[in-house]
Amino acid sequence: MNESNGLNLNRRRFLWTSSAVALVAAGGAPGLAWAGAAVGPERSYPRPQLKAPGERLSLDQGWRFHLGDIAFPKIRGHGWSYGNAKAGNAGGAASPEYDDSDWRELDLPHDWVVEGPFDKDENLSQGYRPRGKAWYRRALRLDPTDRGKHLSIEFGAIATHATVWFNGSVVAHNWSGYNALQIDITPFARYGDELNSIVVRVDADPMEGWWYEGGGIYRHVWLTKRAAVHIADDGVHADPRRDGEGRWTLPVVATLGNIGPKAEAVEVEAQLVDPWGKVVGAGRVAAEAPSLDQGEARLVLDVAAPRLWSVDDPALYTVRTRVWQAGKLVDEAITSTGFRTLRFDAAQGFFLNDRPLKIQGVCLHQDHAGVGVAVPDSLWDFRLRRIKAMGANAVRCAHNAPAPEMLEAADRLGVLILDENRNFNPSPDYMRQLEWLIRRDRNHPSIFLWSVFNEEPMQGTEAGYQMVRRMVAAVKRLDDSRPVTAAMNFGMFNPINVSQAVDVVGFNYQPDKYDRFHAEHPNLPLMSSEDTSAFMTRGEWFTDRARNILAENDEEPSSWGNTHRKAWEEIAKRPFVAGAFVWTGIDYRGEPTPFEWPSASSFFGAMDLCGFPKMAFFLHRAQWVKDRPLLDLAPHWTWPGREGQPIKVMALTNAEAVELRLNGRLISRQTVDPYVMPSWTVPYSPGRLEAIGYIGGRPVSKAIVETAGPPVALRLTPDRTVLAGDGADAAPITVEALDKAGRPVPTANLPVTFEIDNGRIIGLGNGDPNCHESEKGNARSLFNGLAQVIVQTDRGSTGVLRLRASAPGLKAAQTALSVQPGTRLAEPRTPPVSILSDWRLSPIVKVRPDASTKPADNDMNSWGWANPGALQDADSEGGFVLYRLTFTPRGTVRRAGGKLVFGRLTGPAEVYVDGVMVATKTDAAPGPLTAPLSAKEGERTVAVLMTALPGKPFGMGAAVIAEERD
Ligand code: GAL
Repeated sequence: MNESNGLNLNRRRFLWTSSAVALVAAGGAPGLAWAGAAVGPERSYPRPQLKAPGERLSLDQGWRFHLGDIAFPKIRGHGWSYGNAKAGNAGGAASPEYDDSDWRELDLPHDWVVEGPFDKDENLSQGYRPRGKAWYRRALRLDPTDRGKHLSIEFGAIATHATVWFNGSVVAHNWSGYNALQIDITPFARYGDELNSIVVRVDADPMEGWWYEGGGIYRHVWLTKRAAVHIADDGVHADPRRDGEGRWTLPVVATLGNIGPKAEAVEVEAQLVDPWGKVVGAGRVAAEAPSLDQGEARLVLDVAAPRLWSVDDPALYTVRTRVWQAGKLVDEAITSTGFRTLRFDAAQGFFLNDRPLKIQGVCLHQDHAGVGVAVPDSLWDFRLRRIKAMGANAVRCAHNAPAPEMLEAADRLGVLILDENRNFNPSPDYMRQLEWLIRRDRNHPSIFLWSVFNEEPMQGTEAGYQMVRRMVAAVKRLDDSRPVTAAMNFGMFNPINVSQAVDVVGFNYQPDKYDRFHAEHPNLPLMSSEDTSAFMTRGEWFTDRARNILAENDEEPSSWGNTHRKAWEEIAKRPFVAGAFVWTGIDYRGEPTPFEWPSASSFFGAMDLCGFPKMAFFLHRAQWVKDRPLLDLAPHWTWPGREGQPIKVMALTNAEAVELRLNGRLISRQTVDPYVMPSWTVPYSPGRLEAIGYIGGRPVSKAIVETAGPPVALRLTPDRTVLAGDGADAAPITVEALDKAGRPVPTANLPVTFEIDNGRIIGLGNGDPNCHESEKGNARSLFNGLAQVIVQTDRGSTGVLRLRASAPGLKAAQTALSVQPGTRLAEPRTPPVSILSDWRLSPIVKVRPDASTKPADNDMNSWGWANPGALQDADSEGGFVLYRLTFTPRGTVRRAGGKLVFGRLTGPAEVYVDGVMVATKTDAAPGPLTAPLSAKEGERTVAVLMTALPGKPFGMGAAVIAEERD
């Protein structure tokens, strides 16, 4: 039986027992038993549900998107030039009043590049996809009760260069596609029906890497509302320490902000909550929050015998930091922490909690099939579970700050993380990126090492050394508990080089230099920060360079790398090399080395772009997993047309010996060299290929591959069967073709189409680096027996999400996922409108002016500005003022007409559009006014003539909205 995926994936897990012959098949149920099942029993901890009094709301919903740049209008004349230079006056598509009515509406995270076509003229490094520029806009309503709160917006990351405007003022310029932008919007904010405008211009043409980087707001956006006295963004540092006597403490430092008018005395409390939800430590300290400055509270909690965090038992604690002002709880931050010790020994490698742990790591980029870099949180979970299933215990974030949700998953699942900085540059802009990374990530127990660079040309020079010194010092100022490394690939023997400035030296490749370096630097810990770089196409077993195909049998190393087997052997045999980071765990777009067009994604992964395993997955699993017997056979055994021809068969196992049989006939028994693995050349004859693994002469494991017949049916297997109906939860679903005996057909390459109810398809893939099918839509071909569909729930949905798959001539398949009520706090969509905030305001005059009066273009001093609006001082004699503004209404309003909504006019008023009076307010009391706006193309002039009554304040107290008719 050819059980699945070319590597006998089903019914292949066998359990140890102490009895003589212990061959107990695990699985047997339909589905991919390997999907996560290969990890040992994981302890699971309840996650304490804590709710903070501040609000952190998702701002992912309801953005408008325009692909392509929009030029700013050419500014002419004095008045416009002068106004353009002022706060709140951004023009063009950055203006709050801009017409975005024909822009596409979408929710974030979003990567527009993965939606695009493949194009031979584009850069292979970016996966042959056009990047370009784009704009995003969103209106935001803030409740009047938010007045006085500290409000901030956080963009998790935007690829690549970005400018952000809030209410027409630039609030951020960003130069990296990997760091977050944290923007205090409080001073710019408007409340109630005076809406706020958020605009982002993205330029994804600049490249920061040589891999696929996507384009757009591809991580989450958050709106955080906190009290005036509050905990700053990333403002809690909880840093467990163990002293020489083995006693644990938890020093907690909280950074406080205060937007109020005076310094405030507060009390800061920290509670430590154990993995089961019990408070096991608490402390309270007085602190001061100075006005418009930062304060700090420090306290230390004693922690008796905490449960340690490790890769096998990721016990996560929670720190609840609270701020009390005058006895009232005003802010709270929830932070995860874990108790563990880290130590690198120059002779013996890495120790976690004083126990040696060889680092069995993989390098990882951040894109996944179907979704590009806009990876849903639950897909990060899936990707890390796949990596753990391979026996890996560590991930190197190559070569940039990862999504925070990935780090949360690593904390939870028990995966060590090498957190890597992107730009090697100690100048202030870039140092800020590094410092942000450390501040954001330093509470994660999973992070065991910081890396300041990857393969920098200056690594063997004095300049490189001086740069690293400064960057390491910056890291240590923020976190002195973890070592710092840099991934070097040459220059390490130069008289001055960066290995002299780091705690742990990382080697990319260069195994021939391990011994010399260690001999010359016996006190410097050494680790492979990157190795292997061998090529495999999933499901292919014969190299065909003319078709850009490389066999999976680990015989295709790059010229600078090694086969998976050789790379690991070089590291495993040397105790002083702390461990490995295989390039890479999962394939990624771009870098289709050794090929170019039409190959668009990498061949390096131990898994393909969907996370489907290649042979390297099973090889490493056999080499890395020690606690249970493992045996897998490669390749599959469905080779019609190759009858009698030799096929190379490999067993991937942690047994001592393996016996191979074809259709019951013994081929031979081999002793296992765990670095090389047993292999046979077997003339193909259809049927059943079977291997039995032995330890101490006893059979402990078994693997079978069987010849499959032609495909007759489809099968869908979801990664998870219960999803949250929060509009964000997503799950990959595996698509296979089965023969009439229900065996997956590893050679099936056929088109499949999908239909979904109560959810949406957000991406499709099949792991073929040469495939140019769309990753969006509802169709995908199987590639060597497999494809993947990623589904996402609709916000507010419950019930059943159903996916159906069909292919010509095959029995259709369907799968049903249960959708449970979701609980994601999100800011609702705000209907798009034109926000008119940029008014000119005449001086007060005694004689009623003509409504068409306007200031001279070069006179910036007799007329003033009202942006968005403010009441004017009372004049003892009274008089008249004119407000004047020109704007182009949104397309829908231009075509069908609309209305002008004045939130608050104080005093009698007349509203004129293009010189024609359209509404009046005779009442002097503050109040709203609505005026009709007729359908018409082009720019409109609005003038509001207001009467100032003697001794009474008057004026346009709020911004004005132009919107569609009801
Ligand atoms: C390394 C580099 C990686 C990747 C790899 C491919 O030199 O650090 O980013 O390009 O080569 O082999």
